Amino acid sequence: MKKSRPKRSRKAVLAYSGGLDTSVAIRWMQQNYGCDVIAVAVDVGEEGDYAGIRRKALKIGAVKSVVVDAKKEFARDFILPALKANAIYEGRYPLATALARPLIAKVTGDIALKEGAHMLAHGATGKGNDQVRFEITWGALFPKMKIIAPIREWGMTREQEIEYAKKNGIPVPVTKRSPYSFDVNLWGKSAEAGPLEDPWAEPLEEVYDWTTAPEKAPAKPAYVEIGFEQGEPVSLDGRKMEPVKLISNLNALAGEHGIGRVDMIENRLVGIKSREVYECPAATVLLSAHRDLEGLCLERELAHHKTLLESKYSELVYYGLWYSPLREALQAFIDDSQKRISGKVRMKLFRGNCAAVGRQSPNSLYRLDLATYDVGDRFDQQAAKGFIELFGMSARVAAASEQSKRRKSGK
Ligand code: ARG
Repeated sequence: MKKSRPKRSRKAVLAYSGGLDTSVAIRWMQQNYGCDVIAVAVDVGEEGDYAGIRRKALKIGAVKSVVVDAKKEFARDFILPALKANAIYEGRYPLATALARPLIAKVTGDIALKEGAHMLAHGATGKGNDQVRFEITWGALFPKMKIIAPIREWGMTREQEIEYAKKNGIPVPVTKRSPYSFDVNLWGKSAEAGPLEDPWAEPLEEVYDWTTAPEKAPAKPAYVEIGFEQGEPVSLDGRKMEPVKLISNLNALAGEHGIGRVDMIENRLVGIKSREVYECPAATVLLSAHRDLEGLCLERELAHHKTLLESKYSELVYYGLWYSPLREALQAFIDDSQKRISGKVRMKLFRGNCAAVGRQSPNSLYRLDLATYDVGDRFDQQAAKGFIELFGMSARVAAASEQSKRRKSGK
């Protein structure tokens, strides 16, 4: 008789948040895929009871439950590279969620390899961007893994899901559910759904918790000096600081001054327009300070060309293409452009606004002897005449040709 081969382990790693969806997913995967579930919660800067989240997964039936603190990696390998690129989607969204997903996917995939699992699962719905980001990353970095998307697959309504949870002994939050859907990390917080689905309705104050309403913010402005080295923020008011600490300190300070609220209609990758409300105080201040320092230190043509690439870069990040050849090639260009971006910027924070009011750098390209209208001017104004003569030549030639055509046709 043929000996039966030992069964291949059926283990799945689930990106676990501790919320109802991914909690139900643990049991649903066991029942529908017959697999053991390893729950992995990745801490990218959302405050939470991670010990409780870990225990909850075990209680529901996960065979293993781990929490990974990935804040440092998130800041160093995702936020800072994006900051150097001034990454912002559709001119307003600093991409907090979009930057965190590839990292969460990478961390969970690495654990799957280590644990000998063959399946990866996420808790994203079929209508959003996050499913795309998870699955593109897993496909690129862990091509052999089978991907499960329970929330997309099970087709349960909210009521059916709660019913299922109750039947299976999965804790259902007793407090009234917030009508909003939040996603939170070090780089920002997003809110969707509920009353926000009416694009005409102003967000209620209850949506916000990182920022003071600008009209209630302190009547006196705050100033903060941000030090940069090669495009990366390294200090606040002269005090050296690790990126995670620097970003969270700035979130608190700028949030207190009402900075970083964004209310926008956004184009999702899946073709839906969506009303999004973001709070991103630190991102707002750092992006503004970084752009300002580039104004001082980047040569004109490099600066202009970099701007063109930034919108493409931002789009790639939003689309979940972090691990893609184009994002990586653009990153190489962007990183190279940052060699000179060292110095400091003085930011003024006041009632919802932040602005650079001073900047200095050892690599400054600002030349007083060229810019000044006072004594010490070394700019040769006479040279401008010949410059304009040649620079404007092609436009003059074209205009003259149009005029003579018009004259001939008598119009
Ligand atoms: N609209 C933002 C994005 O696509 C935020 C998404 C928030 N995700 C969530 N699961 N609530 O990046």
